[in-house]
Amino acid sequence: MKKLLLLFLLATVATTSSAQEIAIFIHWGIYAVRGVSESWSFFNERLSHEEYMRQQKGFTASKWNPQEWARIIKESGAQYTVITSKHHDGMALWDTKAGKLSMKKCTPARRDLLTPFAEAVRKEGLRLGLYYSLLDWSHPDYPNWTRNTIRYKIEEQPKRWEKFVQFNFAQLTELCQQFNPDLWWFDGDWEQTAEAWRADEIIKRLRACNPLTIVNSRIQGYGDYLTPERGIPTERPCIPYWELCQTMNDSWGYYPTDTNYKSPYQLLRLFVDCLSMGGNLLLDIGPREDGTIPEEQIEILKAFGRWTSKHAEAIYDTRAGIPSNYFHGYTTLNQQGDILYLYLPYHPNGMVEIKGLVSKVKKARVVGNGTELHCKMWNQPSWSEIPGNFYITIPDSVLDQDITVVAVELDGPIKLYSGEGKVIDAN
Ligand code: GLC
Repeated sequence: MKKLLLLFLLATVATTSSAQEIAIFIHWGIYAVRGVSESWSFFNERLSHEEYMRQQKGFTASKWNPQEWARIIKESGAQYTVITSKHHDGMALWDTKAGKLSMKKCTPARRDLLTPFAEAVRKEGLRLGLYYSLLDWSHPDYPNWTRNTIRYKIEEQPKRWEKFVQFNFAQLTELCQQFNPDLWWFDGDWEQTAEAWRADEIIKRLRACNPLTIVNSRIQGYGDYLTPERGIPTERPCIPYWELCQTMNDSWGYYPTDTNYKSPYQLLRLFVDCLSMGGNLLLDIGPREDGTIPEEQIEILKAFGRWTSKHAEAIYDTRAGIPSNYFHGYTTLNQQGDILYLYLPYHPNGMVEIKGLVSKVKKARVVGNGTELHCKMWNQPSWSEIPGNFYITIPDSVLDQDITVVAVELDGPIKLYSGEGKVIDAN
């Protein structure tokens, strides 16, 4: 925990420039060939490892346009992207010299698929995150193979484990040197301890390469920020830096039989929920083996683009909002704390209400539209310093098709009343 905190302080320095964000996660691997679940399908013995790996023969990247990917990601409003450089199946997207499995060596794509993407991402002004699975179920020196098959036990063959540790170090060094990622998104740490992974040494190596790089929490307590997966927190996480990773349907990789897509509206709601609690959303896409992105996913990215460009001021320069007993809904504050943003994912029936607002309101306006809104404090007699009910009128004409945002401009950093109200004595 101490280490987590220390690194976390470092990360603070690296993240102050941009407060809250949306990012795009990409799961691209040989699992897209048959559209089975990424790595887990063989680990859970739904198909044999051999059958799973045979998919490499069908991975072509034949229609892949990395510039187009980067452009679409940028247009969604994302400021960074995280791509699976290697999932639990061990197949590297880049041309690794450390191991045998790579798209270049094993698939008809026959090339390094990370370099052109990394270049395109940086050209678009986006930051680059690399997902890297610490565990590698295909590696001959990794202990676990499938749920029911292990190759060996670390205690019995420590030298063999050391070979695997060195293999991880070698791959991470390649990634550092070739891509210098802004962010490391580790996964699969749960199978071994921090000592076994040599997590401290990994972090030292990464920071030696780039002192400002940020590391997610999936490295047995050595990361900088938390990564809740799929289930949205109901309370603000104890570490202020966090990022929810989320699928658009129920799958990370391309899975054509999974049509359980959430609507852009549902995903945007999830996004403002994250913002409201001071977190980022890492929204996933799963491209096909040929490098095309399924249409449903493109549509969602476009819907994000429409909404994020209209409401930019209420996203990137904000921080967590006020507790929901003051406003029943999602809120954020600007960095100075003198603009309160209210997110209205519903039809407000003419008005919304804020309670306990001590600050004076200079103006309320609709973000991305500019309309000034009528507002008034009710139920605050002149003799009482306890705020009443502050109402803002919201005409239907200003409503956004997904989520309307209202900026409440205050006379200074927000002040809220907290208490049980005032009992008037009869004497
Ligand atoms: C999980 C899964 C993995 C997926 C990841 C994304 O930990 O193991 O398949 O890539 O989450 O968050």
